[in-house]
Amino acid sequence: MSAKLIDGKAFAANVRAQVATHVTRLKEVNDLIPGLAVVLVGEDPASEVYVRNKGKQTLEVGMNSYEHKLPADTSEADLLALIAALNADPAVHGILVQLPLPGHLNSDLVINAIDPAKDVDGFHISNVGLLGTGQKAMVPCTPLGCLMMLRDHHGSLSGLNAVVVGRSNIVGKPMAQLLLADSCTVTIAHSRTKDLAAVCRGADILVAAVGRPEMIPGDWVKPGATVIDVGINRIERDGKKKLVGDVEFASAVEVAGAITPVPGGVGPMTIACLLANTLTACCRAHGLPEPEGLTA
Ligand code: GUN
Repeated sequence: MSAKLIDGKAFAANVRAQVATHVTRLKEVNDLIPGLAVVLVGEDPASEVYVRNKGKQTLEVGMNSYEHKLPADTSEADLLALIAALNADPAVHGILVQLPLPGHLNSDLVINAIDPAKDVDGFHISNVGLLGTGQKAMVPCTPLGCLMMLRDHHGSLSGLNAVVVGRSNIVGKPMAQLLLADSCTVTIAHSRTKDLAAVCRGADILVAAVGRPEMIPGDWVKPGATVIDVGINRIERDGKKKLVGDVEFASAVEVAGAITPVPGGVGPMTIACLLANTLTACCRAHGLPEPEGLTA
């Protein structure tokens, strides 16, 4: 048996199209244009690519994009002053500070300086707490994208056994909270988990977010399970550069019921959900109804 492929590229295009429709209506009916500010400190090449893609896709859905590129030696005081200005700017509905920051900057301090209502990454401690207590939060983009794809595939997730491999603040922990809120029985597994293979084999939903290339082989996958592979790992094989996930795709696709490929699975959903979050933040800021199907 070969699993159904969950096409994240097509799914993300659909999310962006929905966002664009809402943005058009906001302009026509409310005279409002959602705005996203992205702050990049330093010249990390991978971050520069992300930021360029974010800016391009923000404009494509009709939103305003504000890019702030700061030198690598920017002081914490200067960065905090920029965040304070963006917090106060009514044209800015979402603020994203690209991570990782250079080592001399305290990421927690910087992220927690963002107005939680504009924290479209969902990293501010207020949003983490709101999500953990089942209140209305801004939700981290990658887990939100995974949740959207899971809901689309399964309908209800209620009662399913979900195993999240990885305990990062950006993916693993918020993913577990979202699955719990959708009434899954959730296990968070990690590098110290005993008999990880057996834990994974109990999963109806297996989310891999560890950042280790092809760590999870097909024989750890329960037949018929849904596998969401968050990993994006660059490797070299047979002299060729390749992108692979945290799951060994070739063996897992033979066992799973559905699986996200790498590339073209979860990856494209992150920016699409960032745009959805910016739209949501704009609607909330103006007391307007939230876009249906684009929030947790
Ligand atoms: N760096 C890599 N991914 C992300 C992300 O989703 N948000 C931020 N702020 N930085 C990142």
